[in-house]
Amino acid sequence: MKILAIESSCDETAVAVIEAPSFAEASEGKYGNTIAVLSNVVSSQIAMHERYGGVVPTLAAREHAANIGHVYETALAQASEVTGHKLQSSDIDLLAVTRGPGLGPALLVGLTFARTLAWRYDKPLIGVDHMDGHIHSNWLSPIAEIKTQTSKIKKVEFPALNLIVSGGHTDLVLMRDHGDYKIIGETLDDAVGEAFDKVARLLGLSYPGGPKVSTLALQGNPTAYNLPKPMLKSPDFNFSYSGLKTAVLYLIRDITSGVRELTDTEKADIAASFQEAAIDVLIQKTRRAAEAHAVPTIMLSGGVSANTLLRERLTAMCADIGAHCIIPALEYTGDNAAMIAVAAYFAHQRVVVSDWQSVQMDANLRLGISSSTS
Ligand code: KG4
Ligand code: ZN
Repeated sequence: MKILAIESSCDETAVAVIEAPSFAEASEGKYGNTIAVLSNVVSSQIAMHERYGGVVPTLAAREHAANIGHVYETALAQASEVTGHKLQSSDIDLLAVTRGPGLGPALLVGLTFARTLAWRYDKPLIGVDHMDGHIHSNWLSPIAEIKTQTSKIKKVEFPALNLIVSGGHTDLVLMRDHGDYKIIGETLDDAVGEAFDKVARLLGLSYPGGPKVSTLALQGNPTAYNLPKPMLKSPDFNFSYSGLKTAVLYLIRDITSGVRELTDTEKADIAASFQEAAIDVLIQKTRRAAEAHAVPTIMLSGGVSANTLLRERLTAMCADIGAHCIIPALEYTGDNAAMIAVAAYFAHQRVVVSDWQSVQMDANLRLGISSSTS
């Protein structure tokens, strides 16, 4: 079956087409054998939001509206190239769209586009939780591998502990099966990606700062400054990143006394020390949660999962406690629609597919609390 998915929850307009075995023809295990990404088109608005230091919801919505038609046509054209025959909208078996959480005006553009397609071509439509999408980025293989049709659908031993780290979320989610989630820890204030972005701004780096801070950190000394590791000692699995960001602000004031600029060495040392503190808390809390719930599998996802130090530390921690570690391919760490399509694929096996009228936007959707499809 072919699934076309649309994602517009933040500052990426994305459309993807995947092909996966229909349940009747599934030949190997519960979920068949291969998931092929036929196209995964992402149009980023970063350049536009850069000058405001963050994403402006109404501008994001305007850009989504301007670009979505073209992104959709491109996704169909690229999928046609891969399959070798012209793919029409009517060839799609199932439509999927992110219905939350995210920026309301931005989500509405993707949702309206998806509902229109579902109505126009009389296709079933599934509403997907963006975080369910991030989790399912772990079921996608790198596109080069997929094109040779060698990627087996990943078999995961449940329960799996998911560490989801992005610009809006820092969540520890216990996954008992596809669609069966319990949030066991979350941030009480800023998300870790947001902290990376804010520290980047303090260091004079542009939005989104996460990748720039981690690149700068490569040249710095992670023990140069002793920054706080908030909530490290708390017995729960929650996080807090606003204190760490404020500590960086005060550190910069102390170093410069407000009368001079930071040197390049000081900037690199601050980036490295901040990254060390931010990631150490993630690893230690994830380890404790994994041990408390005796999970055989730990999965990482979200934009911050592109961070090299985090990927290395999580892999090492998993080896240490004997858990199987699953980390998404780099091309699926940021927002994309292929992950939404895969989440819809698994959802399609357990829920009654909605018609276009019943799929509603919910900007505050929470995994495991609200239904993921309506
Ligand atoms: O999942 P995502 O693309 O969008 C949201 O749903 O929020 O995550 C974006 C976040 C941004 O805060 C960005 O700075 C952060 O992911 N990020 C990183 C890295 N790459 C992206 N943070 C730290 N290190 C990175 N290499
Ligand atoms: Zn995201």
